[in-house]
Amino acid sequence: MSTHSGRLDGRVAVVTGGAQGIGRAIADQLAIAGADVIVGDLTIAEGEHPGIDESEGLEFAHLDVTSEESIAALMAFVAESRGRLDIVVNNAGIMFEVPVDEQTAEQWDRMMSVNLRGPFLMAKHAARLLAHSGHGSVVNIGSIEGYSANPGHTAYAASKGGLHGLTKALAVDLGPRGIRCNAIAPGWIDTELNASYINNHPERAEAVAALARLHPIGRIGDPTDIGDVAVWLASDESRFVTGQVITVDGGRLARPSLPDILQA
Ligand code: NAI
Repeated sequence: MSTHSGRLDGRVAVVTGGAQGIGRAIADQLAIAGADVIVGDLTIAEGEHPGIDESEGLEFAHLDVTSEESIAALMAFVAESRGRLDIVVNNAGIMFEVPVDEQTAEQWDRMMSVNLRGPFLMAKHAARLLAHSGHGSVVNIGSIEGYSANPGHTAYAASKGGLHGLTKALAVDLGPRGIRCNAIAPGWIDTELNASYINNHPERAEAVAALARLHPIGRIGDPTDIGDVAVWLASDESRFVTGQVITVDGGRLARPSLPDILQA
């Protein structure tokens, strides 16, 4: 699966929303690269904090990124149990579709709280430990919807555009303390988050094939496609890279859309 082994030996990483999907692939690949990985996720029961899954080589802890108290508790646990922190991956995110004139302020606030306020609070509470690392790296999982938007995605696109901006601002503020901050903007990645788009489609096979055709590379993304880039951004191989949003979308945004009748 990966040739990362050893690149992150001795480093400690926290991955938010790492119980499944992209976050899980990132956590797995950081661990394969040698990092000691703590996965924080809403779906991990509070009683299980901290729970070590020896078989997976990961440690799972309850985390709600909408709660500053929960974030502070996780950071206190990392400081106490590891005494250091080198890598933070802000991956936890939610998505929903709702027309703008039907969207409630509560829905908007919820999206911002998970997708944008959460990464801010994580950076705030991780900064002291990351500064001591000498290799501090924050990786935010943005989206191609930080540049463009699907229908019904006013809150989602705004949260991801905001996260791209936060990435640059964190790079500026934390750079002098030796902490880099970058974002990955994934395209369509095969996870639960967007499964509802295709799983209920009456012509699912054709929908999947049509999606693949949107990508010059000829397929939709796999969570490991994001995990590999996250490992690179977490490692010293990207030591002069900060404040960047790296699009990982199989070339989808590189090709302007054409009407079907003009497709070659
Ligand atoms: P997913 O829905 O499969 O997994 C998200 C994880 O975040 C879940 O484990 C969930 O329990 C956790 N989570 C949700 N709210 C939380 C909270 N308040 N505190 C802690 N954990 C929480 O999603 P997926 O597809 O793996 O997405 C991961 C990230 O990648 C998200 O930020 C998403 O916006 C982004 N992304 C995904 C794309 C895709 O095509 N799947 C494309 C572009 C970006």
